[in-house]
Amino acid sequence: MKTRILKVPLAGKDESALGRWATTRPDGTADLNTWEVPSSSSSSSSPSPADNNDDPLEPLREAAHLLRTTATPVAFPTETVYGLGADATRSAAVRGIYSAKGRPSDNPLIVHVSDLAMLRRLLLNLPSPSSSSPGEGEGEEQGERGGDDPIPAIYHPLITRFWPGPLTILLPLPSPSPLAPEVTATQRTFGARMPASALARSLIALACAPLAAPSANASTRPSPTTAQHVRDDLDGKIELVLDGGACAVGVESTVVDGLCDPPVVLRPGGVGIEELRRCPGWEGVVKAYRDRVAAEGGREGEEEAAPRAPGMKYKHYSPRARVVLFESGGDKVGDGDEVRTLVQAETQKKGEKTRAVGVIRTGRWPVAGGLECSGLGEVVVDGEGEGDTGFVVKEGQLLGEDGTETAAARLLDVDLGGDVKGVAHGLFAALRELDRRGADVIFVEGVNDGDGIAAAVMNRLRKAASDIRT
Ligand code: TXA
Ligand code: MG
Repeated sequence: MKTRILKVPLAGKDESALGRWATTRPDGTADLNTWEVPSSSSSSSSPSPADNNDDPLEPLREAAHLLRTTATPVAFPTETVYGLGADATRSAAVRGIYSAKGRPSDNPLIVHVSDLAMLRRLLLNLPSPSSSSPGEGEGEEQGERGGDDPIPAIYHPLITRFWPGPLTILLPLPSPSPLAPEVTATQRTFGARMPASALARSLIALACAPLAAPSANASTRPSPTTAQHVRDDLDGKIELVLDGGACAVGVESTVVDGLCDPPVVLRPGGVGIEELRRCPGWEGVVKAYRDRVAAEGGREGEEEAAPRAPGMKYKHYSPRARVVLFESGGDKVGDGDEVRTLVQAETQKKGEKTRAVGVIRTGRWPVAGGLECSGLGEVVVDGEGEGDTGFVVKEGQLLGEDGTETAAARLLDVDLGGDVKGVAHGLFAALRELDRRGADVIFVEGVNDGDGIAAAVMNRLRKAASDIRT
C-alpha cells in the first residue's frame, strides 16, 4: 500500500467552506454544541471537474469513508500536530493505530470530538446520529438537561476559555463505555479534546464518530507537523494523509486532570499552566510531569515507573542524530574546544563518510552557533506536503581550529527565531529536517523555561536530548 497525500484545498485559509457552528450564545460567540458540515448537494449542483477539485470537503469525505468502513487509520492535521485517527468506538480500527505506529499498548489515546454534543453523547453512552448533515439532529440529543451536564463542572471554565484548542481533559470513562477498550489501555479515565482545526472537526463530524488519535509519527520519533513528515514515518502502513499544510502550534496539547485535588497538568503543551491558573477552580493546578525520561535509570527512573500520563515515560521526540541541548542558551554553542571535542566524538563514528553538524538557534546564538565555518548558503526545502515550517536551512563547511576545512564536516544551521511560538511551530520540523540532511549531532539552543508554551518546548527538547548542558 503506497501512502497517498491528499491536499485539502483552502485548509487554514477559509474555514467557512469546511463547516460552521449551528448555534451561538446570546453574546454571538459559538456555543460549541453542534459543528455542522455543508452537505454534498451544494458542490454536486455544479459538478464541473474544476469545481470538484476545489471542493475542500471532497478529500474529507474520502477520508471519512475509510474511517467508517476500514480498520486502517487516516492521518489528518490538527492545530497542534498531525494525528493518526480511527473510530474510537471500534476495536479493530483502534488496533490499526497501534500497529501502524508501533506504539506500546499501555499508552492510552486521546479521543477527538467535533463538538460538545458528541462528547456528551459519549459520556451518556448514547448512539451517534447516522449522519452529521445540517438540519438533522440540531443537537437535541446533546444531553445537557439543565444542571445535569455529564461534563464535570470543573472543566466548564476550561472549555469556555480554551476549546476548541490545544487542551486535553481527562474524563471518567462511562460504564458501560462506547469507547473501544484499546483507547484507554488500563485507565479508568479517557482524554478528550476538541481541536481548533475546522478541518479536523469536519473530518470527525463526517466520520460520525469520535476519533482516537495519537500524533501520527512512528513511536519515539518527533511528532509530525506536515503531511510529508507523516509519510516519512508511516509510508506503506496507512493509505491516506490529509494535507492541511504545516500545523500552527507545532507541539501537542496540554493534558490536564481536573478529577483530582488539586488538579494537575500531566503534559505541558499549547496551553500554559499560568493560563490555566486564571480559571476558577484551577488556581492551585500543579505540574505532575517530569522532563527527563526514565532511560537513565536510578531513582528518577523508578519514580517514573507509574507515571500519571503513561505516554510520558517513553523515549520520545528523538531524531536519529544525537541531540545536545544547551539549557540556558548562553550566547553561543558552548566553548569552542568543548564543542570540537563533541563534534569529533560524534562524527568519528562515521569514518570516512561526510560528517554533518546541525545547529538549531532560538534567538541568542549567532549564525552556526558561533562555530567557525565557510560558504554558508541557504538550501531549499520543498516537496509535496511540506507546508510552511517557517525556517530556512543554511549549509556550509565547518572549519578546523586553524581556520582551514580540516574538520571534513558540513554545518547545517537552522534559525527558529527569538519568539517562542515560532520556536514551537518549527521545532519538530527542524529536528526532522536536520536528520534528513544527515546530521550526526544537533546542538540546540534552549529557551527560558518560563511561561506558556516555553515549558512544552523545553519538555520536548529534554526528552529528545541525550546530553543536556547547563
Ligand atoms: O495535540 C495532541 O494532543 C495530539 C493531536 C493529534 O491531537 N495528540 C497526541 O496524542 O499528542 P499522543 O497519543 O501522542 O499523546 C497522548 C498523551 C500521552 O502522553 C498519553 O499517555 C496521555 O496523553 N493520555 C491519554 N489518555 C490518558 C488517560 N486516560 N490518562 C492519562 N494520560 C492519558
Ligand atoms: Mg505522541
